[in-house]
Amino acid sequence: MKKFLIAGNWKMFTNVFESKILVETLLAEISKKEMHTTVLVCPPFTSLCGVAEIIKDTDLKLGAQNCHFEEKGAFTGEVSPQMLQFLGCEYIIIGHSERRTHFKEDDEIISKKLSAILDLGLTPILCIGETFEQRMNNLTNDILTNQIEKAFENIKKAHIKKVVIAYEPVWAIGTGISATSEQAQETHSWIKDFISSKYEANREDLTVLYGGSMNDKNCHELLSLADVDGGLIGGASLNAETFATIIENAEKISKI
Ligand code: PGA
Repeated sequence: MKKFLIAGNWKMFTNVFESKILVETLLAEISKKEMHTTVLVCPPFTSLCGVAEIIKDTDLKLGAQNCHFEEKGAFTGEVSPQMLQFLGCEYIIIGHSERRTHFKEDDEIISKKLSAILDLGLTPILCIGETFEQRMNNLTNDILTNQIEKAFENIKKAHIKKVVIAYEPVWAIGTGISATSEQAQETHSWIKDFISSKYEANREDLTVLYGGSMNDKNCHELLSLADVDGGLIGGASLNAETFATIIENAEKISKI
């Protein structure tokens, strides 16, 4: 039975009040049933505490959208993985294309964050993905190879299977145009083959989420693919009913 991870990336949406309403509505939608799927919400930093309080006795997991790689120090405006762990975060998203593009996060920084998160026993969700131009020029696998190799440079072998990869084609994020089933399956399969052969990891132990315009309409097709182990969902996670529909689809598919 496949165990999906369905993660909501709320990005810079929802103030503390709106976050609480969103998570309460989501809980009302999903708490009626026993869940096999792991469901994760990643609100903005300012809402983590409020959301943590609401979900503390539920199966819902809490994650952050970013972190620094140091434990503490004179790093104005930054938040450490230890601080996030203390709040109850079990997952941290790193390397999102919005951070790579708008905040100039490079592979070296992402690699340091990855090691810091893993050393603490938290689960990183490492985002990788190619631009439209790179795909058109048949560079997808080269770009992904580079992103994975650089990120994995300093991590321990035993930690490889603990990294959740989110394959997020940059051209699919927030555009309403998701990857086709063929593109998603082919790329997910390639990512698993690459990591399992290069780092001697068990292919079955690897978790690769799809991200980029996944919604209640296309989730069934995408989640039904052999090598898609869940979704990292932005826009569609900001509506509790829509997000709950995606979770329900994951539940149904996992039972097939
Ligand atoms: P989207 O975002 O679902 O709005 O395309 C996904 C993401 O950026 O993680």
